[in-house]
Amino acid sequence: MWRASCFALSLLAPAAVALAQQGVGDVVYVPTPQVVVDTMLRMANVGAGDYLIDLGSGDGRVVIGAARRGARALGVDLDRHLLKVATAAAQREGVAGRASFREQNLFETDLAGATVVTTYLLPDMNLKLRPKLLALPPGTRVVAHDYHMGDWLPDERETIAVPEKKVGQAGVSYLYLWHVPAPVAGRWQATIPFGTGSAALEFDLEQKFQVLKGQASAVAGRPTRLNSPTLRGDAIAFQVEVGAPQNPVRYAFRGKVEGDAASGTVVVSDPARGQREHTWRARRIAAAAMKGS
Ligand SMILES: C[S@@+](CC[C@H](N)C(=O)[O-])C[C@H]1O[C@@H](n2cnc3c(N)ncnc32)[C@H](O)[C@@H]1O
Repeated sequence: MWRASCFALSLLAPAAVALAQQGVGDVVYVPTPQVVVDTMLRMANVGAGDYLIDLGSGDGRVVIGAARRGARALGVDLDRHLLKVATAAAQREGVAGRASFREQNLFETDLAGATVVTTYLLPDMNLKLRPKLLALPPGTRVVAHDYHMGDWLPDERETIAVPEKKVGQAGVSYLYLWHVPAPVAGRWQATIPFGTGSAALEFDLEQKFQVLKGQASAVAGRPTRLNSPTLRGDAIAFQVEVGAPQNPVRYAFRGKVEGDAASGTVVVSDPARGQREHTWRARRIAAAAMKGS
């Protein structure tokens, strides 16, 4: 579906060309309908404390929408006319103190400090930006209108009906939200509560963007399984079962990753001792490469 809409944005039909009078660079100017802008900002939960960068900012509507929600925001574009329109609109809306615009090639924009990056660009442009986006601090949100990031699958997606939309897939907008994943691939070591004392847990995580697969070594000589690992930004969760599959001690881990360290809380459900919550810490003792980046 997104391929069809990509085709339409890159080779605009004559009727759509009227909508795309301006725009300079690698993709023509097509404004995101306001209802879609509002949905993008809601999906990324943009608010005071955020710094949003819209890559290819057009008439500034995404930047102005973010500033209206209390965020600082920057738009970059190569089209001087659109940059003037955007700057005037920010002044008119009373958000010029938080919304600024810069004439710049979006591939050269320094994204340092951004907590949210938005795009309405073609898929090959999104893919070219992808390594730079993945290098941003874990948890940075990326929201794209209509176009995907290849095999970096979104954490959330929404499809909304937009009857007035004539470009891309007419009448429909596809919205995608990603959280930049923390690099967690490799071997980890932790000490976990076990019986009346503690035991060493070693586990390996394989990572393709935010998608994890995990395996644990035996704990205290008992067969051990690591199940359902998930990662959103720097927030990690996984379950571990120790012992016979029909009667295991179950551990539900939740925590945050900071570099080669992780910590959080673990709920231990032990058939012999009931359920208790503890804190946990783990250390990555050997990093591995993330697949796909
Ligand atoms: C599809 S419009 C999106 C406008 C706005 N973000 C929105 O959602 O309403 C893409 C914009 O990117 C700008 N653009 C294209 N290539 C660019 C480049 N290499 N650097 C900066 N801006 C670029 C165009 O001038 C146009 O305004």
